[in-house]
Amino acid sequence: MELLTEIRVMQQVAHEPRAAGRTIALVPTMGFFHEGHLSLMRLGRARGDLLVVSLFVNPTQFGPGEDFKEYPRDLDRDLRLAAEVGVDLIFEPSVEAMYPPGFQTFVTVEEVTRGLCGAARPGHFRGVATVVAKLFHIVKPHVAIFGEKDYQQLVTIRRMVRDLNLDIEVVGHPIVREPDGLALSSRNLYLSPAERVSARSLSQALERAKALYRAGERQAAVLAAEARGVIEAQPHTRVDYVAVCDRETLEPLDEVKEGAVVALAVFVGRARLIDNCLLP
Ligand code: PAJ
Repeated sequence: MELLTEIRVMQQVAHEPRAAGRTIALVPTMGFFHEGHLSLMRLGRARGDLLVVSLFVNPTQFGPGEDFKEYPRDLDRDLRLAAEVGVDLIFEPSVEAMYPPGFQTFVTVEEVTRGLCGAARPGHFRGVATVVAKLFHIVKPHVAIFGEKDYQQLVTIRRMVRDLNLDIEVVGHPIVREPDGLALSSRNLYLSPAERVSARSLSQALERAKALYRAGERQAAVLAAEARGVIEAQPHTRVDYVAVCDRETLEPLDEVKEGAVVALAVFVGRARLIDNCLLP
């Protein structure tokens, strides 16, 4: 496995397989790999002749007062895990190279980033769309893989790719969970043992909404309130939002007709955790 840090070198390295008709798959990450990241890489391994994983803690998607500085990092461990999965190339640029002095061009995806996490984290999706657009131009993948755990992020990237006519297939990967249902996240590291117990309520809340939906409930407000109740019954939790939205536009729904997503964000202690599920 190769480690590249220079943008120009990455662009040159990507040129050759493309010219030879080989498929490049990209898995963008911020590192500190867990089984969620590794599952995306396995899918990437199956989808690409050349599998590139980018590892970059992107400052522009963190707001003031968020955890950019203390975001967990462990490059040696990440390199070992990626090599085990069969990654061909890790691209790990510096912040200075990605955002040199004078940088002033951003990608703004409008409507789908207004609600949910976009409302709570102004500028977050602008930072995500910008860095992903940059990575697409540097790595030049045919296929890019994103987790459904960050559902609004996935919708945002799909929208950007469509709107800007990027010739890249965006593939979503299902959420990878702990045995008790907690979605894997680098931020689970911030949980104390007692908070870790309370964090189970996020997936339990989604299960509750799904069960009610299966039993015939179609009022979004009822589904959201029941899910919220499951979380608020646990100590150390503070709900940011529980929302039932259209799965493509992310517009809030009154009544669930066809495809809907239940999305939630909850502070458990100081960790802000997100989760979601689709209503079939
Ligand atoms: P990061 O949080 O490191 O996540 C990298 C990828 O792993 C994302 O596509 C995310 O959705 C996926 N992922 C994380 N936890 C997962 C889980 N439990 N199950 C399935 N997939 C999971 O998301 C980012 O980085 C950044 O915003 C990035 C896209 C790299 C742009 O900076």
